[in-house]
Amino acid sequence: MKKDIFSLKGKVCVVTGGYQGIGETVAGFIADAGADIAIFDLNDASEVAEKISAEYGVKAKSYICDVTDPQIVAKCIADAAADFGTLDLLFNNAGICMHKGALDLKPEEWRKVIDVNLNGVFYVAQAFGRYLVANDKPGNIVNVASMSGTIVNIPQEQASYNASKAAVMHLTKSLAVEWVDKNIRVNSISPGYIKTAITAKSNPEYQKKWLASIPYKRMGTPEELAGAVIYLLSDASTYTSGSDLIIDGCFTIV
Ligand SMILES: NC(=O)c1ccc[n+]([C@@H]2O[C@H](COP(=O)([O-])OP(=O)(O)OC[C@H]3O[C@@H](n4cnc5c(N)ncnc54)[C@H](O)[C@@H]3O)[C@@H](O)[C@H]2O)c1
Repeated sequence: MKKDIFSLKGKVCVVTGGYQGIGETVAGFIADAGADIAIFDLNDASEVAEKISAEYGVKAKSYICDVTDPQIVAKCIADAAADFGTLDLLFNNAGICMHKGALDLKPEEWRKVIDVNLNGVFYVAQAFGRYLVANDKPGNIVNVASMSGTIVNIPQEQASYNASKAAVMHLTKSLAVEWVDKNIRVNSISPGYIKTAITAKSNPEYQKKWLASIPYKRMGTPEELAGAVIYLLSDASTYTSGSDLIIDGCFTIV
């Protein structure tokens, strides 16, 4: 490719929830596209960072970060900016899911899901946005929503998750418009059922029902999300902000 519009060379990307699953896999692809990687996770992801660095020849480092704590998030952004010299991209991916009916859900369970999936996404985007504006830099954010922000999954009951992901999609649009004149683009992806620890933990009976209703007749893999993330993070999508890309094996269209 002469005009390397998908290249992320020379950029530094923060990846939240990069210890495992979608974050871990997509971080590898972002590194393969040329970016250095700063992983923020509740768990120590130094082995993931070492593996990425060895495999793709980029700089990678992990930071223990609870995205629900805005002070810790701000400190991790400051530390990563100091360690890497700059920050340019954010893959805002950390999230959790809870299968529990709305009638039984305790207030602290509702708050936990909203805190990680919505508040956490906001706190990281805000700290990253503040860093960019303070340093007069352009930037680019991809938030991880879910097809559950568009449809209501069955048979499992997960109103807290669905509501949190619908909110992530609208937060994405709101930040995209607020930050147009700051040269910060904000988009989201909405994966369907993807094979990771979140889905592996789910009731096998549910999984059978999901497979029967996905037109592809299989779950997706984290690898199958990477191209969309690189597209949205790169100069291939400079006129795109506030968009949501659904990647779901046709689940939401039938
Ligand atoms: N797997 C799917 O089918 C699917 C579908 C749609 C959307 N998603 C979304 O994709 C994202 C990643 O999911 P996954 O399947 O890879 O899950 P996963 O459980 O495999 O990984 C989630 C990662 O987030 C981290 N994390 C959780 N809480 C955190 C916190 N408070 N602070 C920092 N890190 C935290 C975990 O330690 C873990 O490394 C989530 O936002 C999820 O909602 C997943």
